[in-house]
Amino acid sequence: MLPSLTADERLHSEAVAALIRGRIEASGGWMSFAEFMELALYAPGLGYYSAGSVKLGASGDFVTAPEISDLFSRCVARQCAEVLTATGGDILELGAGTGRMAACILQSLADLGVLPDRYFILEVSADLADRQRSRLQALPAQLRDRVVWLDRLPAAPMSGVILANEVLDALPVQRFIVRDGVAHELGVGLVNGGSALQESFQWQESTESIDVAADGLPDGYISEVCPRIDPWLASIAGSLARGAMLLFDYGLPRAHYYHPQRSDGTLRCFFKQRAHSNPFINVGVQDITAWVDFTRVADAALAAGLDVTGFVTQAAFLLGTGIEAMTIDVDDVAARARLAGEARRLLMPGEMGESFKVMVLCRDLDVPLRGFAHQDLRGSL
Ligand SMILES: C[S@@+](CC[C@H](N)C(=O)[O-])C[C@H]1O[C@@H](n2cnc3c(N)ncnc32)[C@H](O)[C@@H]1O
Repeated sequence: MLPSLTADERLHSEAVAALIRGRIEASGGWMSFAEFMELALYAPGLGYYSAGSVKLGASGDFVTAPEISDLFSRCVARQCAEVLTATGGDILELGAGTGRMAACILQSLADLGVLPDRYFILEVSADLADRQRSRLQALPAQLRDRVVWLDRLPAAPMSGVILANEVLDALPVQRFIVRDGVAHELGVGLVNGGSALQESFQWQESTESIDVAADGLPDGYISEVCPRIDPWLASIAGSLARGAMLLFDYGLPRAHYYHPQRSDGTLRCFFKQRAHSNPFINVGVQDITAWVDFTRVADAALAAGLDVTGFVTQAAFLLGTGIEAMTIDVDDVAARARLAGEARRLLMPGEMGESFKVMVLCRDLDVPLRGFAHQDLRGSL
């Protein structure tokens, strides 16, 4: 059973559902799921990420690695330090959530003596950008003054590091169903007479095919595809003159992503720490995500002129960047036990260790990267 909505959440969700319903009616009764997801998450002032719900952290809907433990961000900082030592320049973080990772990375880089000139944040959610501002306000001036919020990618290509943790999984996806070896788009239709909240929307198959290699997949097979990755990556790659882009997310190489046994796709919704697979309830007050097809990311990176320098599990990345020593070299017994527990959540295969992957895409950078030294999964892409 999912937790019920508060009165405010119900009102908010009704407003988002009404907006989407109006758009579907205006376009003749059908909408691509990518457009539904775009509106449910990002409709200005209304979508899940645009409006004011808590979203991240224990009191929100889901918890990300930087919210579980600063160990994660300290490891990312170590990797950034290696790149910045070679390139100088800046860090650009895409979708910085609560700003906790940004704060921790800046503090860690100050300790390591390798600060970026500026720490750019590009955030599509005005609500989260406000929260990032209040959190980063508490940093010492010499760190705080480096943070710059952008509303578009930097005008001049930068050198340094681009970071994105759990951003790719938030890009709107199309859904499809296989009929006779052809992928047909599975969009959103309206339920006649449904109330605004729970009963408005239903999956509706289109007769149009979409561009997915569906041969070999059984009839009725459902999954997702994210064409948005290609222009997203191309535009970001255009902003990187020299350095590395680090992408962290749950995902798989394509052969595993479209495995015949994974017959109901990877779409997941998060509401008050519960995961489920119905995007048509709690519209606008729950997160909607899909796993990342890392083969698509690698292809898009190559097309944009980047080198796919490494692809590892989150566990391999964190071990390579020294998480073990961070949990051992701690004098206080209680703190050591707490850190060991946090490290287990980040590292264990049944938690985030294996389902989360890290990909590094480089331009004009030829330095060994410790996060990618212990594993190489690029052959699986
Ligand atoms: C799942 S949250 C992850 C937040 C944070 N990185 C963390 O790990 O806690 C997704 C973030 O990506 C942002 N986002 C979504 N689409 C984006 C885009 N196209 N460019 C930049 N940020 C985006 C959201 O507003 C949100 O901050």
